[in-house]
Amino acid sequence: MPSARTALASTTAPSIQADDEWSPLKAVIVGRAGRASFPAAHPAMIKATMPTEHIHRFLPNTPFPRDIVDRAEAELDSLAAILKAEGVRVYRPLAGIDWVAEGGYTGAMPRDGLISIRNTLIEAPFAWSCRSKEIKIAYGQMLRQLAIEDENARIVYRSAETFADNLINESWDEKNPWVINNSRPAFDAADFMRFGSTILGQYSHVTNQAGVDYLRSHLPAGYRVEMLDVNDPHAMHIDATILPLRKGLLVYHPYKVTEEALRAHEVLADWNLVPFPFIPQAPDRPPLYMTSAWLPLNALVLDGERVIVEASDKRTIEFYEELGMKCIKCPFKHVNSIGGSFHCATVDLVRG
Ligand code: ARG
Repeated sequence: MPSARTALASTTAPSIQADDEWSPLKAVIVGRAGRASFPAAHPAMIKATMPTEHIHRFLPNTPFPRDIVDRAEAELDSLAAILKAEGVRVYRPLAGIDWVAEGGYTGAMPRDGLISIRNTLIEAPFAWSCRSKEIKIAYGQMLRQLAIEDENARIVYRSAETFADNLINESWDEKNPWVINNSRPAFDAADFMRFGSTILGQYSHVTNQAGVDYLRSHLPAGYRVEMLDVNDPHAMHIDATILPLRKGLLVYHPYKVTEEALRAHEVLADWNLVPFPFIPQAPDRPPLYMTSAWLPLNALVLDGERVIVEASDKRTIEFYEELGMKCIKCPFKHVNSIGGSFHCATVDLVRG
């Protein structure tokens, strides 16, 4: 006969249990913009990663335009409502944080700072020091709650060694293509994608070898990280480069990664790998201050059959539907403007 404790554990829903990008989504974090600010980082970092035409805007204490942030906040609320209506448990961070006063960025992009792997949620040791307190400030309360809700949940907070501010290489070249050195662990969670026990990642201007080793050291038993060969001199976040739509089907950015490079990883060896078929166009406004126009690849898959796509993006909707997906439309252009799309703005906590 099971003990009372076992019986209780088996009826409690897990708060963290996800290790891929497509199994049925049960619980998710949806970010909030707050008073979002252009993140102030070292000029060499901004130059390496941000769109040339917007580099001059990345100064300390510079809020994003108010109307854009207000609309982004409303779009994030709509996304949360859509997910709730689909029966997904939705978690939101603190509202109304003044990121300008904090010298930070925003709470709208939790994917950069948190990655779930089975029952473990790992806080990223951001390379950008202006983001170092982002998770603690906006998400700290939520993370404590997740740990209380599920005694099997494991949360790995970033360790003191990862706060050292000595990462920037003023110059970089072919020998060292990245603007950060390896003096302390650094990674953004969005440089990794989960495919079950294999996690595919990329080195980038925010992810170094020490960061990859740090991630490896905190993985649950049986999980491994493999690094994908990506051709992206401005690399920061892999989630506009590859998009698994369901088990066995992945869409990729054909200028940033090749089919051979993908196929080299055993986990994808027998997958259908489909290049994104056209060059996405940025809308006239609002501007994409922080990214390329390849955000159609930054979608959120609900269950391998349904995917959330920007409401006005007809060509992408048509393409994903040709691949057998049902597209759920959500307006998201203003979130896009301040840094990313549906994948960036969410963290899946429970799938399967
Ligand atoms: N660096 C990518 C691009 O410019 C965008 C990635 C956005 N992802 C994110 N998690 N914030 O295409």
